Amino acid sequence: MTVPNRLRLGVNIDHVATIRNARGGEHPDPARAAIIALEAGADGITAHLREDRRHISDTDIDALAAMLRERGRPLNLEMAVTSEMLEIALKHRPHAVCLVPERREERTTEGGLDVLGGHNWITPFVTRLREAGSRVSLFIAADPAQIEASAHVGAQVVELHTGAYCDAAREGRTEAAEAALKALWAGARQAAALGLEVHAGHGLDYATVAPVAAITEVVELNIGHFLVGEAIFTGLEAAVTRMRRLMDEARGGEA
Ligand code: PXP
Repeated sequence: MTVPNRLRLGVNIDHVATIRNARGGEHPDPARAAIIALEAGADGITAHLREDRRHISDTDIDALAAMLRERGRPLNLEMAVTSEMLEIALKHRPHAVCLVPERREERTTEGGLDVLGGHNWITPFVTRLREAGSRVSLFIAADPAQIEASAHVGAQVVELHTGAYCDAAREGRTEAAEAALKALWAGARQAAALGLEVHAGHGLDYATVAPVAAITEVVELNIGHFLVGEAIFTGLEAAVTRMRRLMDEARGGEA
């Protein structure tokens, strides 16, 4: 398909590890899922190493980093703003690091990172990660003040939180969904005007992806939970292929 302004797709494989961890052992293996996702049209792989290691483990990150390096594909490491995570990121120097909130007090009302309230502690993390060669992204609500603060702390990328839009759309709250989508459009424009690269993600599925993929300034979507869930029914390759096609069509792609 020829696609003008093609969007990148990052597939988040965290919940493959959730299923593995339900039993312990090694199956299903997130690195194997990552290879299938790449072969089905993902541009990169996203993984969130949580402080409590509830899904992805340190060993998973080692394996994913090695596999992606070998294939010349990007790893987007999602992590909390803590010194433990900073050490891990500095060891791996992934292509991208997305800083996310894990504790309630680190979040904005819409669930993104509170960059405005936390700029004093976030700024040194952004600086160290950038110096190590990673592209630094901040997972934030599409809120003008948070976007402005993200540019101030030196991030190169913002990932706009699509959870409020997806929840409203799924629950049939049309007005709220439209308002959330409008905020995403405005946020993407504002961020791009400030020189930030714009990504989006959280809660996206087949039904909600197209309106977000149509936002001109967005260059990358990160999608996980739905794809891993759908893989149970159709297989991961088919799920990623279909998501890829929906994104391409929303971008005006033609067969
Ligand atoms: N982007 C970020 C920053 C995230 O933290 C997550 C969830 O880990 C996602 C995207 C993917 O969200 P979902 O799993 O709901 O598709």
